Amino acid sequence: MLTLKNDTFLRALRGQPTDYTPVWLMRQAGRYLPEYNATRARAGSFMALCKTPELACEVTLQPLERFPLDAAILFSDILTIPDAMRLGLSFQQGEGPRFEKTVRTEADVKALFVPDPADELGYVMDAVRTIRQALDGRVPLIGFAGSPWTLACYMVEGRGGTDFHTIKAMMYQRPDLLHRLLEVNARAVTAYLNAQIEAGAQAIMIFDTWGGVLADGMYQQFSLAYMRRILGNLTPYRMEKDEHGNEHAESVPTILFTKGGAPWLDALSRSGANAVGIDWTMNLAKARQRVGPTCVLQGNLDPMALLTSPAQVREQVVRALDSYGAANTGRGHVFNLGHGISQFTPPEHVSVLVETVHEHSRKLRQS
Ligand code: CP3
Repeated sequence: MLTLKNDTFLRALRGQPTDYTPVWLMRQAGRYLPEYNATRARAGSFMALCKTPELACEVTLQPLERFPLDAAILFSDILTIPDAMRLGLSFQQGEGPRFEKTVRTEADVKALFVPDPADELGYVMDAVRTIRQALDGRVPLIGFAGSPWTLACYMVEGRGGTDFHTIKAMMYQRPDLLHRLLEVNARAVTAYLNAQIEAGAQAIMIFDTWGGVLADGMYQQFSLAYMRRILGNLTPYRMEKDEHGNEHAESVPTILFTKGGAPWLDALSRSGANAVGIDWTMNLAKARQRVGPTCVLQGNLDPMALLTSPAQVREQVVRALDSYGAANTGRGHVFNLGHGISQFTPPEHVSVLVETVHEHSRKLRQS
């Protein structure tokens, strides 16, 4: 890859050897950084921050200024899609997301539409283009979306923090209606992700935050099936210019993350994604055995391990790398947390994490 100064992350996702294990963190731009809180205050609200490409670009780059991370992730939210479906999204201070309208009846589902990524979601594509320009090839940019099931959880429940009783009742009583909703979401996510790829996203991640609340059998039908369909319909390549201005086709690797997805790891590894994100409940070496040699793994430190001390952070990171390294010299692994970083994380602990991943993984490759 000629346009990138650091392509370690993309090489790892493609299963190629790397000098060290690349690392980025879910929610790496966020409230644990004082500079994020300052930009957010200037924007006025979280959604205003997402909808102003210059500010979204600014906060995307903030963690990269502090830490030598190997990838940037678009600053946005998975709820941009239901917001563009005009469900009236707002974020209550300290409470998480809320929707004015819920999607529960035949008429609600009928009224849904696939938002045009160039129109209702044009601000996201503007952010992707602005960020790519500002990154200037420093590291690759990850684009993302929520899974159809995870988006449906918010659309049906109307807010976060519930026990999912409304959507689960719908799933058991009106599976046909829920399937129609998921169908619209899958088409919306596919168009949205393909537009991000066209705008400049160099890897794609699907966040299935709530897939893990489903019963076995239901997970395959109501979450995995739709993610597989999306993966099968993504643009596999994007054209990138090298330093001579010549165009090259670059593959766009994909990452699938179901939180609590351990029971379905085998199916996830055969979903068509290049990599599977795993949470902290799994052992990396055992996960490697289950997925076989070709599927890349991303994860999986417990984000709460970052709330301890620099020495503890170092110890936990070494432990995670050793557990994987014993299986095969680090190839096919992208270091990450098992879920988003906590807002109470001291930024110095993130420095220790990134430094330890780079240092210790280089050492493991030499031994
Ligand atoms: O990783 C990154 O740096 C990119 C940014 C990113 C955000 N949300 C920013 C954000 C990404 C990838 C997301 C995805 C997202 N959003 C998910 C899937 C990943 C996950 O964490 O499971 C989900 C479920 C959402 C929905 C969402 N957005 C919730 C439930 C909340 C409130 C929870 C909270 O932490 O307050 C948000 C808000 C949100 N999205 C914040 C950030 C930085 C905090 C908002 C603020 O600044 O007040």
